[in-house]
Amino acid sequence: MRKFTKGAVALAAAATLALAGCGSGRTESTSGSTGGSGGFAAGSLIGVALPQKTSENWVLAEGLFNDGLKAAGYQADVQFANGGVSEQQNQIDAMVTKGAKVIVVGAIDGSQLNTQLKAAKDSGATVIAYDRLLLNTNDVDYYVAFDNYKVGQLQGQALLDGLKARKGSSPWNIELIAGSPDDANSQVFFNGAMSVLQPKIDDGTLKVLSGQTTFSQVSTQGWKAENAQKRMDTVLSGYYSSAELDGILSPNDTLARAAMTSVKAAGKEIPVVTGQDSEVESVKSIMAGEQYSTIFKDTNKLVAQTITMVNALQKGEEVPVNDTKSYDNGVKIVPAYLLDPVIVTKENAAEVYKDDKTLGPLTKG
Ligand code: BGC
Repeated sequence: MRKFTKGAVALAAAATLALAGCGSGRTESTSGSTGGSGGFAAGSLIGVALPQKTSENWVLAEGLFNDGLKAAGYQADVQFANGGVSEQQNQIDAMVTKGAKVIVVGAIDGSQLNTQLKAAKDSGATVIAYDRLLLNTNDVDYYVAFDNYKVGQLQGQALLDGLKARKGSSPWNIELIAGSPDDANSQVFFNGAMSVLQPKIDDGTLKVLSGQTTFSQVSTQGWKAENAQKRMDTVLSGYYSSAELDGILSPNDTLARAAMTSVKAAGKEIPVVTGQDSEVESVKSIMAGEQYSTIFKDTNKLVAQTITMVNALQKGEEVPVNDTKSYDNGVKIVPAYLLDPVIVTKENAAEVYKDDKTLGPLTKG
């Protein structure tokens, strides 16, 4: 169970996440138990509160929500909160005041919005957590995301596969990077990856010369490239002046490129580096034989699934979910619709991106 420990607050909740195997809660069922019972007028306002532009997927989502919601006949209010948590709080309050019937939230910090979410629910709106779970609140109705734990498992496995393919025989020296501690996804990605890597650390196949293996030691505040780069600089000068660094677990593409910049600056051979998001620069790097892997989480599909949920709510129909067991946010289990992430390396990139107008062409010669 992807459990956010009951009663724990913000960071503590993220830090004590207890995760078991992937897909354990998957059911092909529907649940209309919350929200949506009476439906609402076509043409109503739908609010979408997005976090900071920390990766390309969020920017893509903005355009897709604006276009998709309008095409479905709604008024759309899509906001970024580049200024931080208090800006996002104000934006959600404003959506409630304007009478939004559904508020879709990609939280900067999933445990800092409780007052605003309560106001949303009190106004009769339905709250959908988008990509990142909303923690320690009853006031969230649904969750729609790619399976984050599986993302981590795929990253861990890709790191092992890449080391075998590129770095000769074990033992291999690796370092670990995790995402921002305020993002509920970060610990889930990390736990998924460590479910694959920890046994290999324990049996000596993998060595972490810095000794930094806990989430709090390896997390990257704000998902900021400069923070990951700074930490890698310190780790490289402290532990790798005479040793090779064979691999880096990176939770996303932005941090993967930051880590590679650090390694290049140290004059070292490029290690096997994982990623996530299929960002243009990282796909180019993969095709050039540098970054080893990324994850394809098709934002088109995630936004389309969210709008399918909004449509069901508008008509007063049952909202499609496929997981009613896994996402315990500390207060309740949030019914979720999970999509499958896809691992991408140079070998399968052309196939995975064949229908993507931006990424497909990057894989051709
Ligand atoms: C998303 C990742 C993204 C990260 C930084 C996470 O919550 O799931 O796709 O790389 O945020 O923006």
